[in-house]
Amino acid sequence: MAEIKLVSLKKSFGDVTAVNEIDIDVKDKEFFVLLGPTGAGKTTTLRLIAGLEKPDQGDIYFDHEKVNDLGPAIRDVAFVFQYYTLYPHYTVRQNLEFPLKSNLRKTPQDVINKKIEEVAKILHVEHLFDRQTVNLSGGEMQRIAIGRAIVRTPKVFLMDEPLSNLDAKLREEMRAELARLHLDLGETFFYVTHDQIEAMTMGDRIGVLNEGNLLQTGTPDEIYNKPINTFVARFVGSPMINLLDAEIEGQKLIIGKRDRAMECTLNDYQCKLVGNAKSKSVILGIRPEDIIVSKEKQGNNSFECTIYFKQSMGVEDILNLKVTDELIFKAVAPTKFMANVGDRIFANFKMDRSHIFDYESGKRLEL
Ligand SMILES: Nc1ncnc2c1ncn2[C@@H]1O[C@H](COP(=O)(O)OP(=O)(O)OP(=O)(O)O)[C@@H](O)[C@H]1O
Ligand SMILES: [Mg+2]
Repeated sequence: MAEIKLVSLKKSFGDVTAVNEIDIDVKDKEFFVLLGPTGAGKTTTLRLIAGLEKPDQGDIYFDHEKVNDLGPAIRDVAFVFQYYTLYPHYTVRQNLEFPLKSNLRKTPQDVINKKIEEVAKILHVEHLFDRQTVNLSGGEMQRIAIGRAIVRTPKVFLMDEPLSNLDAKLREEMRAELARLHLDLGETFFYVTHDQIEAMTMGDRIGVLNEGNLLQTGTPDEIYNKPINTFVARFVGSPMINLLDAEIEGQKLIIGKRDRAMECTLNDYQCKLVGNAKSKSVILGIRPEDIIVSKEKQGNNSFECTIYFKQSMGVEDILNLKVTDELIFKAVAPTKFMANVGDRIFANFKMDRSHIFDYESGKRLEL
């Protein structure tokens, strides 16, 4: 069992603050995903947990035991890196055996054989045992690298973008396999990625990191449906959320100041929110799937627009809709909607599903 607790953890390299006083509590057996763009400080956080870097400030606990001063071997973590770190001229079998043969653990050969056979089965690589790793495909190599992490039973698994070098189809397969592996092993995973789909599909909880700052921690559902600011709102979800500049006017939001192109009627809760707002300028966030298209006008928050561009995605179409030259947003339409570029249609904003952010800070308005 292993809980990981990071308390006010900070690490700088010269002028760059890679990790800025972050607090994270990872529960035992949890699949925790740290999500952020390049340079956010994800790898640094993992290296701090593994003991490969020393924090400038803050503490790291494994199961309530402070591990700041323990070296990587004693912390007993397994690390899977972004780039394959196999020994190229060893066979798959030798690569898998390697962690069990270290001087720290004197494991008998029959135990080793049994263990690597088990692991090979889980990862479907038994047929590769005698191959040299240099000749394997990317997907096979990454499976072996994961295999090497799981042959022994470490306290925690640390994974640094293990799928980022695989092609899209293999990535999708491996996402499911990793999530399954986590269930089977029943161990704590701390997984780092810049890919929001990986985070949303695999994580029990997600922490969103940007420029060393932990912006929000929550379940995929919380992160998606209650993003704390416009950065998180934009980072999670595809197609991306629409963020529209708006002005509060009584119980309405006016979008497109000059020509008052759209006047959105707010619900009771949103009226309270904007009643407390510091500034009249806000940003309305609405996800493309929360804009329903129709051929006829439907109620208050239904706006006439032109289909400006259409992307077919198979099961659905992504429509770029234009109200005025400055006011363009995306909506998702079922393919059976049958509309084409240039058609005049109506976009119905499901305001109950929308988000309102402060214009200056980008923070979500809350009561
Ligand atoms: N050893 C180092 N020396 C100097 N700067 C470093 C070092 N390691 C990381 N940094 C800097 O710290 C910041 C965070 O880096 P880090 O590698 O943790 O980001 P990341 O989120 O893993 O990014 P990526 O998605 O590109 O892997 C970056 O600005 C990086 O340049
Ligand atoms: Mg990294």
